[in-house]
Amino acid sequence: MCRVLLLCTFFFAQVSAMKNIEWHSTIGSTNDLALQRGKEGVVHGYTIGAKYQNTGRGRLGRPWASPPGTGLYCSTIIRPEIEIHDYPLLTFVAGLAVAEAIEKQYELSPGLKWPNDIYFGRKKCGGILTETSNLSQLDKQRFAVVGIGLNVNTETTMFPEEIRSTSTSLSIESGANKAVSELFITIREQLLGEVSFFVKYGFEPVIERWRERDIFLGERLEWVTAGGKIVDGISLGPDDRGLLHVKDDQGRVHEVLSGDIRLVK
Ligand code: BTN
Repeated sequence: MCRVLLLCTFFFAQVSAMKNIEWHSTIGSTNDLALQRGKEGVVHGYTIGAKYQNTGRGRLGRPWASPPGTGLYCSTIIRPEIEIHDYPLLTFVAGLAVAEAIEKQYELSPGLKWPNDIYFGRKKCGGILTETSNLSQLDKQRFAVVGIGLNVNTETTMFPEEIRSTSTSLSIESGANKAVSELFITIREQLLGEVSFFVKYGFEPVIERWRERDIFLGERLEWVTAGGKIVDGISLGPDDRGLLHVKDDQGRVHEVLSGDIRLVK
């Protein structure tokens, strides 16, 4: 335990000294600061990380529990040379990059839940919140923020009661406690590499690899629409624009753009 603590302190000191990385012990939300830094004009790849967030945010306005020291909380500013309508695809690029980075560091094979959650079996280990600047601005002012939250060395009892049975961490899955900062560097590299790949080769080869990790393909699920309506059906997976196809019992195929999906037990 003491060794892990020492290693962490050493790595955090190293990370803070790296170019285009800003490291905080405590922060409100790394995404909030990244949105601010993006407006100030920081470069592509500029990343903000924190040991602890007291107002971490998740998708659909939910809070993101960010216990100190055991999780990875970071946000990277992305300035890709892509069309405005392709910005939503960055979330899939990021999910894939995180899964691949985990695979590099641990002997684990993470699954992905549309649009961008990191899963092991039926338990969530991490999530991604992608936000953008005002995209109607000039090309040079446009940017996206990819916010990544991962349960790294979190123990079961540390999760809030209401998500305890549906959450997991990398240490629970692998049986090993590793320095958060090492994973942080690997994830950032993988993310920037996958973004370059996407800009160069397009979305198709990205979503092909994403599909190999799709945990919901062929499963019965419920789609909760933004208006709160529930659509029940079988997942056909995401198409080449990232829209999730859900076939209901009448044989109608719904193209899901937003909202929440959950497995029907
Ligand atoms: C989700 O699954 O709902 C997405 C969770 C994203 C959480 C991360 S933690 C780092 C960054 N800062 C935030 O406030 N949120 C994202």
